[in-house]
Amino acid sequence: MAQATQTIEQQFTEEFDGSRQRAMQALELFPSGITHDGRYMKPFPLYCARAAGSKKWDVDGHEIIDYAVGHGSLILGHNHPEVTAAVVEQLKLGTHYGAGHDRELEWGDWVQRLVPSVQRLKFTSSGTEATLLALRLARAVTQRDKILKIGGNFHGWHDFVVSGERPPFVDKASPGVPAATLESIVIAPYSDLEAIEQLLAARDIAGVILEPSGASWATIPLPEGFLAGLREITQRYGTILIFDEVITGFRWAPGGAQERFGITPDMTTMAKIVAGGLPGGAVGGRADIMEVLEFRDDPAWKKVPHPGTYNANPLSATAGATCLRLVSNPEVQQFCDAQAKKIRVGMNDVLVTRGAPGVVYGESSVFHILLGEECSSVHDGDVRVPAGISPERLKAANVGKIKSSLWAGMLLHGVDLFSNGGLLSIAHSDDDVEKTIAAFDVTVGRMQAEGII
Ligand SMILES: Cc1ncc(COP(=O)(O)O)c(C=O)c1O
Repeated sequence: MAQATQTIEQQFTEEFDGSRQRAMQALELFPSGITHDGRYMKPFPLYCARAAGSKKWDVDGHEIIDYAVGHGSLILGHNHPEVTAAVVEQLKLGTHYGAGHDRELEWGDWVQRLVPSVQRLKFTSSGTEATLLALRLARAVTQRDKILKIGGNFHGWHDFVVSGERPPFVDKASPGVPAATLESIVIAPYSDLEAIEQLLAARDIAGVILEPSGASWATIPLPEGFLAGLREITQRYGTILIFDEVITGFRWAPGGAQERFGITPDMTTMAKIVAGGLPGGAVGGRADIMEVLEFRDDPAWKKVPHPGTYNANPLSATAGATCLRLVSNPEVQQFCDAQAKKIRVGMNDVLVTRGAPGVVYGESSVFHILLGEECSSVHDGDVRVPAGISPERLKAANVGKIKSSLWAGMLLHGVDLFSNGGLLSIAHSDDDVEKTIAAFDVTVGRMQAEGII
């Protein structure tokens, strides 16, 4: 009954009071009260107490179908019994030996076996560290200083990748990043191979880094043939091609997007699924690139340094190796893809039936929701490329009231989205999918009634 008289925001504020109280307390601890920029949300973010399978429970006791799945890392769902058991067992054996161990061998072996381009690899503690190392390796090998990135792509938060991520992509300014660092970054116009070729032709660009799905896990899809074209021109100009597979790795296929699309990069960065839900990342690639990390007796040899206290720590290695063994079965990715497609189709049906402007699209096992924008191809059901919408608009997606109402409205009906969309896991059942589409139906109806869309 509350629903008929209250707005989404009013009802959310009332029913999620435990989160509201904690958010107030958090303001005294963390800037804006959050510990990851992606969790910033109005009127306040969600606080959770536990999770299992496809669900999590918040501090007020709501059961919520989770599409954040550990920011994309939990393709097996929360607390997969085999991963949990292996980690608990390892915990009893120690968390850090300050020495090599069997689990890191197992973990490295799984990465090498699954990802076609990985001849040698190093582990890091996060995706940000992985892209930082990959760019340094590219510069060391080519003895060139510049890096080309594609507007809108996200590669973590270190100095070499933060610029050009938010619209307008051409704006390189980023507070706290030295001007000299920004000068070494070239931001290419989105998916314009001709423009990229012109930039590479100067032969001063060490590496090109991009998400092979298109920016932000296919929020801005790439045109057909783009990756193959990029592979060709990077080879032509001696530039190292780096696929950032932090999200797509082990999700787009057991061997990531490079397996799914049949394009082999020179280097790959990984995190999230690679570490089975614990902190961790990896950089892998051609042996003749990775060799710059080697120790050699030759006094003239200058190696690229790479320490890191928690690299390949036994807990992450155990979670990672166990997870990779399980995701090596392509049925994992096939199931998640199928469930995501049902969500995309079901949500587009809702928009069409309700006459609401918007589109739900994506590829592999992800979905993205863009509301308030007419899209001509909505009737195709599973929309891969939202027609006629600019890359900048796709990236900015839902802002202000549309974003907060969609998120809070879905939570009121038992669903947590992740950044205007979500990622699937093997724990997401048909029942979850049906409930999610029903939640979307009610939420969109309420947003229309409130005049938000
Ligand atoms: C494509 C991509 N690269 C890099 C990163 C950074 O990874 P991390 O958050 O582990 O530093 C992310 C994080 O979401 C990502 O999606």
